[in-house]
Parts: sequence; C-alpha cells; structure tokens
Amino acid sequence: MIKQKELLESLRSIDELDAHLVPLRKAGAKIGFVPTMGALHDGHIALVKAAKQDCDAVIVSIFVNPTQFNNADDLKHYPRQEDEDLALLLKNNCDFVYLPTAEEIYPADYKAVKVDLETIENTMEGKHRPGHFDGVVNVVSRLFDIVQPNKAYFGRKDFQQVAVVKEMNRQLKLPVEIVTVETKRTSSGLALSSRNLRLSEQSLEKAVIISQVLNKGKSWANSYSPSVTRDKMIAYFKDSSLELEYLQIVHPDTLNDLNQYWVPGATACIATYCDDVRLIDNMELIAK
Ligand code: PAJ
Repeated sequence: MIKQKELLESLRSIDELDAHLVPLRKAGAKIGFVPTMGALHDGHIALVKAAKQDCDAVIVSIFVNPTQFNNADDLKHYPRQEDEDLALLLKNNCDFVYLPTAEEIYPADYKAVKVDLETIENTMEGKHRPGHFDGVVNVVSRLFDIVQPNKAYFGRKDFQQVAVVKEMNRQLKLPVEIVTVETKRTSSGLALSSRNLRLSEQSLEKAVIISQVLNKGKSWANSYSPSVTRDKMIAYFKDSSLELEYLQIVHPDTLNDLNQYWVPGATACIATYCDDVRLIDNMELIAK
C-alpha cells in the first residue's frame, strides 16, 4: 500500500512526472488518471473520488486543449483558475496534478493520431463541432502515453466523449481501463460544468429546463416510441428561452438515432445555448 500523501505534488513537466510515477509503477502501484481542462467542480471531484477508491495513486491533469475548440471565442473565454483548482484537489486528497505546457503536449515532432470513429463521430457534438473529437483523441492519447495510467476516469456528462475515448482505446489497443462516472448535478438538476461559471444567476435558473426536459423524456419513454418521445421533448423545450442546437435519442454504443424501437441504455442527448453559453447534457431513458 502506498503511503497517503499530505501534499499535492504539482508537476509541470514529463521529467518531473516520471520522477514520481516511474518508482510507483515499478512498485506495482495502480495509477488512476483524471484528465481535465480545469475550472474544477464537484463533477470533476466525483471522478477523483472514484479513482481514489480503485487506485493507489491519483493524478489529475489540467490542460485547456486548444485543438478541441472549434470556436476561438469559446477557447478565449474558457475559465482558468489554477489556484482554486489546486486547493480543491488538495482538499480531496488527490496525489498529483500535471499542468503541462502546450509545447510539451504538442512538441514540434508531434505526429497526430488518427482513429476511424465513423458513425460515433458524425452526429451530435462531432457534427456541430467539426474537429472537436480529433482534438480530444489526440490530447487523451498523448496524455495516456505520458501518464501511463492503469485506469482513466471520464464523466457520463460528456456521453459522446466516453464513446469516442473507448473506441480510440480499442483501436489503438491501449492498456488503459476506461471507467465512466455518473453526472453530478446541482440540487435543481443542472449538470455541473465549468461553463456554468459564465452563467448569470438568471441564466442558471433558466438552464434548469435542460434536466427537466430530460426527466420528462424519461417518463414519456414509458408510453411512446423514441421518435414521438423526441418530438414531445423538443416541443416542451421550445417553450423555454434557450436556443436548442440538437436533441437526439440515441443507441448507447453506436450513437445512431433511435426512431421506432427502444433499446436498453437508450440515451437522450441535448445541446443548447443559454444566452451565449453552450451547454450539453444527457440522460439514460431506458435502463441498461
Ligand atoms: P472537462 O470538461 O474539464 O471534463 C473533465 C472530465 O470531467 C470529463 O470526463 C467530464 O465528462 C467530467 N465531468 C464534467 N462535468 C461533470 C459532471 N457534472 N459530472 C461528472 N463528470 C463530469 O472533458 C474534458 O475536460 C476534455 O475533453 C478532456 C477529456 C480533459 C480532454 O481535453
């Protein structure tokens, strides 16, 4: 058993990281990894806690990955708050935090990884944010290569991202176990997100409609087909002042739209603009 650390180690280079992780790996420690883009909240902490339960040492990375932003404005406004993040990780007994520079993640001789994501990518986030998942695949595979974790933790909040990472893992035959953690919500139901920091109090109230429509969908799914459920959800959402980008009910593995028949794990996914902030959420409508 590895001795519990009292201090969070902030590592800013691969050399520093190796100095700590290589001996742990040699000693047979199980390393849990939580990749993030910072502005940490209880959703991220849920991943840290799940990793702490399973692993001997937990490492969180904080890197706002420019290649996964298809919108320059979104990248510019992405919240950055390193001191608060480190304090929160320390409070939650995280062992290591990796804060790389863009140069270290993408060195001059960096060769982009290519994964054939097919249908998984051509819908929802992949469709509306061209290039987004290429960026995710590249940064996650690069981080896996640097950290070499035994297990990596991802939130169900980014439903399509989990499917993409699992497919990447399968195709690249990476020796990392992918663990999915349930979405953390506020008491009003809003999924926690770093982007919520950009919402005014009024917008936070308006945004509650997102989880409300997902819950409505869950009850309608008992009586209606997927396509009728989706249409009813869209009609319900239209009464709100949020702008709907997409609302789809998909197969949990292929992410193909469901129309006539339900399958276990069928999930409703939504993307919407609350004022100028883009929010996503999802909910399993039929139990797996
Ligand atoms: P980020 O948005 O910071 O999220 C990091 C991880 O926290 C992701 O796995 C995400 O699904 C999870 N997460 C976010 N909100 C959550 C919530 N409310 N409940 C549970 N988990 C939640 O996702 C990314 O960063 C990036 O794409 C990344 C994987 C780090 C690659 O750059």
